[in-house]
Amino acid sequence: MTDAELIAAARGAAEHSYSPYSEYSVGAALLFDDDAVITGTNIENASYGLALCAETVAVAKAMADGRRGGLTAVAVTGPADKGDGAPITPCGRCRQVLNELAQLGGTDPDIHCVGVGENGADTVKTVKLSALLPAAFGPANLG
Ligand code: THU
Repeated sequence: MTDAELIAAARGAAEHSYSPYSEYSVGAALLFDDDAVITGTNIENASYGLALCAETVAVAKAMADGRRGGLTAVAVTGPADKGDGAPITPCGRCRQVLNELAQLGGTDPDIHCVGVGENGADTVKTVKLSALLPAAFGPANLG
């Protein structure tokens, strides 16, 4: 699985975004050490504050399937028609949610943050989860 393929999986997931209120579609794709890919997209609610982010939906799907680690990379895509096209980075809550799954397996996944450049091509900024969420609180603290 190449980075480009993982990003394409995230973009595919965003096609199912339910975001009628923000009209801001987000896709997420999680890559695991057995090459499995699990995707998510944002799901909003008429009670606006109940929106679920794409990354959180993907982690919930993965953990509901029994996954408890093995997270090696994540791609997060933002929409082409919003903002300045800069790569979208996971919100603070999603960083914490991603950290739970990563820390369970002792990995520090690459987070491929993806936007859309002026020419329509992907703009990608790759950062480690530990850089997005330094000094994280996680399951190891409770063990
Ligand atoms: N959103 C995500 O899905 N992931 C993020 O990391 C940032 C924000 C969603 C939530 C909401 O549906 C829309 O983007 C606008 O905030």
